[in-house]
Amino acid sequence: MTEKIIDGKEISSEIREKIKKFSDVLKKESGRTPGLAVVLVGENPASKVYVKNKIEKTKEVGFNSIEHKLDEDVSEEELLSVVDKLNNDDEIQGILVQLPLPKHINSDLVLDTIKPIKDVDGFHAENVGKLWSGLDSLVPCTPLGCSILLKKLSSDLSGKNAVIIGRSNIVGKPMAALLLGMNATVTIAHSRTKNIEELVRSADILVAAVGIPEMVKGNWVKKEAIIIDVGINRIEREGKRILVGDVDFEECMKNSSKITPVPGGVGPMTIACLLLNTLFTSYKQFGKQEIKLSDIFE
Ligand code: GUN
Repeated sequence: MTEKIIDGKEISSEIREKIKKFSDVLKKESGRTPGLAVVLVGENPASKVYVKNKIEKTKEVGFNSIEHKLDEDVSEEELLSVVDKLNNDDEIQGILVQLPLPKHINSDLVLDTIKPIKDVDGFHAENVGKLWSGLDSLVPCTPLGCSILLKKLSSDLSGKNAVIIGRSNIVGKPMAALLLGMNATVTIAHSRTKNIEELVRSADILVAAVGIPEMVKGNWVKKEAIIIDVGINRIEREGKRILVGDVDFEECMKNSSKITPVPGGVGPMTIACLLLNTLFTSYKQFGKQEIKLSDIFE
């Protein structure tokens, strides 16, 4: 890989090594092991792969991993009762309900039922509000991973133009809050945005999280731009199933200063940040001196 390509795999592996060290210390000092529960509803093939990877990496850093698999037709009531049990289980410090949930379930209600302190996804309204108010909170994993990559690449984003494509609660909106916190000038583009190409051309930092394969073309980006591609799209090309991002990688790589690949860019950072959140909240729940990102990266 050239320096131009941001190696999320390597950076995330370094972070996971540090988490393992902190986890070992925490376990020794507290006599307890952090537990992360993952709830998977139904048979969505992409969700199954994500959950499998999350569980594998959770075990690798020495946390307990607890999986709850529920049928596609599970009732909302039953799912809420699983979340409630996990909320009240002292062995569990983090709870993640994999999205999307089946249509008959109110996802917002489920996410808001998770205790804010165990909300390692950072999706609970209390954590969302704290993030936008600049207070300490659990931060959604994918935008947190993107912000760590950006901090590594460019220590000062002050006054830079950051354009985010996509306004989801999982990525676009929390990413905007984080970039504002880093003093960038932030614009969120979405499906109704006019002149999106022109807007993207103004970006010093582009975060693409829209779910449209290779939407951003090479001539949309400026030479100095840093491109963070959050998209994970499965497409068929030349008879093969492949993964591509929301950015045309070959074209944009030539035209930008730095770019994340798909796969191997943002994806592994998301999992590392899930483990980071679990570590942070475990320190808190075990009554230990709280740790922050700066402790991990010192
Ligand atoms: N589905 C896609 N991304 C995510 C995520 O970050 N958290 C959860 N819970 N579900 C997802």
